[in-house]
Amino acid sequence: MEIGGIYESIKDKIPFKPKIGLVLGSGLGNFADSYEIKAKINYNEIEGFPVSTVVGHAGCYLFTYIHDIPVVIMSGRVHYYEGYTAKEVVLPIRLMGMMGIDRLILTNSAGGINLSFRQGDLMVITDHISSFVPSPLIGKNDESLGERFPDMSSVYDRILTRLLIFAGEKAGSPVKEGVYVQTTGPNYETPAEIKMFRSLGADAVGMSTAIEAMAARHMGIRVCGVSCITNMASGIAEGPLSHTEVASIAGRSGEQFSKLIDTAIPLISEG
Ligand code: HPA
Repeated sequence: MEIGGIYESIKDKIPFKPKIGLVLGSGLGNFADSYEIKAKINYNEIEGFPVSTVVGHAGCYLFTYIHDIPVVIMSGRVHYYEGYTAKEVVLPIRLMGMMGIDRLILTNSAGGINLSFRQGDLMVITDHISSFVPSPLIGKNDESLGERFPDMSSVYDRILTRLLIFAGEKAGSPVKEGVYVQTTGPNYETPAEIKMFRSLGADAVGMSTAIEAMAARHMGIRVCGVSCITNMASGIAEGPLSHTEVASIAGRSGEQFSKLIDTAIPLISEG
């Protein structure tokens, strides 16, 4: 089904026009628990929607007010490594654009490449490298969404990014800043790959986000993002990487992460 048809099929379940979209990465899974949910649309109720297969990635849109700001939350996302095309992976982002969001906050867990980072740090994303994954914009361009050759010179909105950094200070947990590189996953990287990414200017590595940010920019949505550094990347930390450990650190940082986002939302809504 075309995206227009998918949007039409869920339109009546959307309780209000959301201003901000928020994608919850692992570790922020409980974020929505503190807010009164006005409506919920399970991804598996949406015909034509890619449904996540990752354990622990619940899948639904949640509609709530956060400090009186109408927000749509993606609780769970789909990843390229699940076997969907890049275009399919960004369909949920495009649907939020059609719901009316004009600002998007992307969150994820990531491995730290910058040697000054520590496990548990939060990193506001200042730019990304998406060259190791296919563009979600490949294929016939849907002119109703955006132009054929969209600019990517400022994917992460400078003002929203400053506000996220300010929110970190205000919430009592100053953040780091850096460049995020997206890999396909699902395997973690080799130490040689991490050295290469560092030499290319990346500060953190993960398996999501960059292509979502591109699809949002294509639609003219203002984007900002934050990574939870759940582990130092391959070859920096001693011993092998495990998803269990990544998930556990993400969980522990959840409270700090939630406080940052809760503080940031009113600022971002005005910014
Ligand atoms: N690499 C890729 N993705 C990740 C990592 C990592 O080290 N940690 C969390 N997500």
